[in-house]
Amino acid sequence: MFVELVRTRRSVRRYLATPVEPAQAELLLEAALRAPSSQGQSPCHFVVVSDPKLLSDLSRAKPHGASFLGGAPLAIVVCADPSKGDVWVEDAAIATTFVHLAAASLGLGSCWIQIRGRVHDASQTSSAYVAQCLQLPPGLEVEAIIAVGSPAESPSPHPHDSLAFSRVSYDRFGQGL
Ligand SMILES: Cc1cc2nc3c(=O)[nH]c(=O)nc-3n(C[C@H](O)[C@H](O)[C@H](O)COP(=O)(O)O)c2cc1C
Repeated sequence: MFVELVRTRRSVRRYLATPVEPAQAELLLEAALRAPSSQGQSPCHFVVVSDPKLLSDLSRAKPHGASFLGGAPLAIVVCADPSKGDVWVEDAAIATTFVHLAAASLGLGSCWIQIRGRVHDASQTSSAYVAQCLQLPPGLEVEAIIAVGSPAESPSPHPHDSLAFSRVSYDRFGQGL
């Protein structure tokens, strides 16, 4: 059940060394390709990375929040063509979310690594660095990398009473039920 999935889903950053089965990877890509996109423009491209050297290179895409990718058996890099519409960021974010949730449904751990809007160093954006690592064609932007693997950690689900229902209003902002 979807509700049960979102109740237990967490970001997982530590993985077993076991590879992700090709059939499982294909299901993740199916989820990505089934994600909704504005006007059906489907501006996203996905690069599946399992080469340890490339995973290590990608783990240096930005100074913080990506290093754990070096310990992941698989990454899915979500790119998009901004010329295919003004909401490619939203389209790419939804596809990334679909992969994260599909991974959870398969018992795999995964974590979003933000690339768009981040910098590799003073002279290069993280998106340009990833484009260089993966030989992306000119014009593609990188939204995110999803690290995927069999979980080597099990973060507890967020308890129901930790959810900020105070941020929800009814009919008018600030109004309760
Ligand atoms: C847009 C977005 C960007 C994120 N970027 C990163 C990132 O670069 N590195 C990272 O380790 N986690 C990243 N995360 C994961 C968040 O840190 C995580 O979702 C948050 O701490 C809540 O934890 P949970 O997913 O386990 O509930 C990102 C999540 C989102 C939605």
